[in-house]
Amino acid sequence: MKKLLPATLLLVALSAQADSYRLPKNPAFEEECASCHMAFPPQMLHADSWRAMMGDLPRHFGSDASLDEKRRVAITDFLVANANGRKTGTTRDAAGKPLLRITETERFKRKHREIAAATFRRASIKSPANCTACHRQAAAGDYSERSINIPK
Ligand code: HEC
Ligand code: HEC
Repeated sequence: MKKLLPATLLLVALSAQADSYRLPKNPAFEEECASCHMAFPPQMLHADSWRAMMGDLPRHFGSDASLDEKRRVAITDFLVANANGRKTGTTRDAAGKPLLRITETERFKRKHREIAAATFRRASIKSPANCTACHRQAAAGDYSERSINIPK
């Protein structure tokens, strides 16, 4: 029994980490990137995807999210430094172009394959990108099963 303990502790630590996407502190990112939607965790996209998105802010999913150059560069650096391709798997499409949406990544699709498209369209949810509709603690980086509540 005693010999098994360290391995067990490691497993517990790893599984606790697996669903935690705590937001690294960054005031510029919080000010500029959490007014129209929640601050998406930088860990959920590959650096290439963040660079591509931050290179075209005037045409950001049909919204103008332009920033002055100093802020744009600072936020890009922050996103790239915290990006995590290892956790997300590839975030490129079949043609090799960086995906701009977390919701289009293979990992997101796999984790949500049991949710019907109609569920994501409910008035209480509206879009797969509305993470906080179902993940009540998403703002704190907690996507664990115990804090999920799919609204009717
Ligand atoms: C003017 C409003 C606005 C601002 C400011 C804004 N966004 Fe967005 N963003 C949107 C809209 C609208 C969508 C599309 C949402 C949807 O499909 O439901 C979006 C989608 C996204 C997505 C993709 C979500 C998905 O489907 O996986 C990411 C990632 C993202 N934004 C990051 C950022 C970052 C980083 C910033 C700061 C530089 C930012 N946004 C600032 C409006 C904005
Ligand atoms: C319609 C509700 C809904 C929306 C919207 C939604 N999710 Fe989920 N998500 C779920 C459910 C339900 C699960 C659990 C799936 C399972 O365990 O089988 C899940 C699982 C996850 C997991 C895996 C957690 C783990 O412990 O493995 C992550 C990470 C995640 N979602 C992130 C997101 C992000 C990021 C967004 C927004 C871009 C989002 N989700 C939007 C319902 C939703």
